[in-house]
Order: sequence, then C-alpha cells, then structure tokens
Amino acid sequence: MLQRISVLGVTFVALAIAGPGLARAQSAAEGQKLYMTYCSSCHGDKGRGDGAAGKALPVKPADHTDGKLMNSLSDEFLMTIIAKGGAAVDKSSFMPAWGGVLKDNQLQDLLAYIRSIANPLKASGKAKRD
Ligand code: HEC
Repeated sequence: MLQRISVLGVTFVALAIAGPGLARAQSAAEGQKLYMTYCSSCHGDKGRGDGAAGKALPVKPADHTDGKLMNSLSDEFLMTIIAKGGAAVDKSSFMPAWGGVLKDNQLQDLLAYIRSIANPLKASGKAKRD
C-alpha cells in the first residue's frame, strides 16, 4: 500500500513538472532571455548581428531586425539552422547547432522572439501587428 502511494506521488510530481511545458504557447519573452544568454555574443543584444564575437567572425550574422531579409526566410529554415547549425543548411559552421543544448520548446521560443523583432513584422505567422 505504501509503495502504491509513493508511485502515485512520483507520477503526480512528474506531471506537475511536465504539464506547463507541454501546454505552453511559444513565448517571445522567453525567447528573448534565451537569445541574450546564448545568441547575443554573436548576434548582438538587439539582434543586429553586431555582437562582439560576431564582429570577429569571417562570416557575419544577418541583422535579425531586418524584416525584408528575415521575412523571406521560412520558419522551417530558421528552425533548422538554429537546431542543427549553419553547416546543415550550407551556411557557415560558425553558427553552432543548438538542438542538443536547448529543448524543442526553447527553440520555438527563440523563433518567436526572432520573428517579433523583425521590422516590418512577417505578415503571415503569429507575430502581432500594432
Ligand atoms: C559563435 C557565434 C554565434 C552564436 C553564439 C550564434 N550564432 Fe547564429 N549565426 C552565426 C553566424 C556567423 C551566422 C551566419 C551564417 C552564414 O551566413 O553563413 C548565423 C546565422 C544564424 C541565423 C540565420 C540568419 C542569419 O543571421 O544569417 C539564425 C536564425 C541564427 N543564426 C540564430 C541563432 C540563435 C537563435 C542563436 C542562439 C541560440 C545563435 N544563432 C547563436 C553565429 C552565431
């Protein structure tokens, strides 16, 4: 009986931890935090491609606030380059692969953030126009 109760307890705790993650919508705010932690060294604090490390690279990251450029790139392409790195899409391998470092929902948050800073915003897609 005691054993039974502890099994239920563990299941409950596991669900409580996993629950919010499973149901959570993509969050640009979460993505921004991740971007500042993992990406801004190369991509810059504001995504302009002017991070200190980025400036030193032979291949410069793009300006993620440049809607004209960024809106021409599909979600699929952006997710692939973020998850698998530049080499996976025939771009520079100076862009690291993040799939092994970050969880899938964190990659989605990063995409939501990148989409949210493009000016103009992408017309289709989930970013809001004001
Ligand atoms: C070590 C430097 C570095 C870091 C850190 C880095 N990137 Fe990049 N990233 C690059 C470079 C360089 C390119 C351009 C590759 C090319 O054009 O060949 C790039 C390209 C990209 C692109 C395609 C558009 C563009 O800028 O050319 C996206 C999207 C991107 N990175 C997202 C991210 C995200 C999200 C993170 C953090 C999780 C990140 N990068 C971290 C260097 C970096």
